Amino acid sequence: MEHKTVLLSEAIKHLNIKPNGVYVDCTLGGGGHAEAILLSLEEGHLFAFDQDEFALNKAKERLFKYEKKVTFIQSNFANLKQELNQQGIDSVDGVLFDLGVSSFHFDDPERGFSYQHDAELDMRMNQNQPFTAKELINTFEEHEIKKILYRYADERFAPQIARKIAEARKESPIRTTFELVDIIKSALPNKVLRQKGHPAKKTFQALRIAVNDELHAFETSLKQAIEMLNIHGRVVVISFHSLEDRIAKHTFRDYTTVDHPKELFTMPEVEPDYALINKKIITPSEEEITLNNRAHSAKMRVIEKIK
Ligand SMILES: C[S@@+](CC[C@H](N)C(=O)[O-])C[C@H]1O[C@@H](n2cnc3c(N)ncnc32)[C@H](O)[C@@H]1O
Repeated sequence: MEHKTVLLSEAIKHLNIKPNGVYVDCTLGGGGHAEAILLSLEEGHLFAFDQDEFALNKAKERLFKYEKKVTFIQSNFANLKQELNQQGIDSVDGVLFDLGVSSFHFDDPERGFSYQHDAELDMRMNQNQPFTAKELINTFEEHEIKKILYRYADERFAPQIARKIAEARKESPIRTTFELVDIIKSALPNKVLRQKGHPAKKTFQALRIAVNDELHAFETSLKQAIEMLNIHGRVVVISFHSLEDRIAKHTFRDYTTVDHPKELFTMPEVEPDYALINKKIITPSEEEITLNNRAHSAKMRVIEKIK
């Protein structure tokens, strides 16, 4: 299934693209947002990141006709500043994050992201990274697995699932997605198994976030992006997980407020360098959600450097 770009027109509108500006798409994926940015550029340039080689190669084909205006960078967006500096860029007019995985990650059984396909437990977005979901499941302490399931997916049955994983791997290593699905099912009460939604969904989500160190990479990169902005430059974040949205919300708040020491009676005339563009988060329309189920949890936030 082709990846359907989420909040396409809203993201482009809020990037407020200058035809001659320098833009960064941190999450190239299927190239939907990137193509729309490129269409708005004249002399400007787009730097497009994806750590996934497959995604990058597919997007290169799609964006071939814009090749003079785009530079592809296969790297984790946590290396944003360093990679851009290597390209001779130290400030930018806009940065987009459309977080998470692409549909093709789930659709390709070999990648081991999906509880619906039987495959080696893998879940790496960057296939050059040695650490996989299989290693996590077979080597992390039971209490560490429990913490991952609680923290990244709010899994109510984290202790029971972590216990069953620890028991099962004593017999033999857990190798595949379907082996893990069976273990998860064996840890859940029948009442829960009968509920709507796949019983392994939360565990798989938590493992994916942990394997790819997603939250840490995002937090690191977001700060770099904000600090590289030119005046009137913007960072647009589309997130699909409450923890990602919280990172965006708190980071944006830190950059758009100035701390005044309590003991000062007269406030100094200090204004923050950044402003929030939307006080309320932007979400997809009902129509978009009907057409693309993945859009239902999307939230967009925007920050601008004002001085
Ligand atoms: C939701 S998709 C982006 C879809 C894209 N905006 C489009 O319109 O087709 C997210 C992409 O970001 C990539 N990605 C996620 N985390 C990354 C990271 N830390 N560094 C680089 N790429 C990352 C994934 O491999 C995936 O291809």
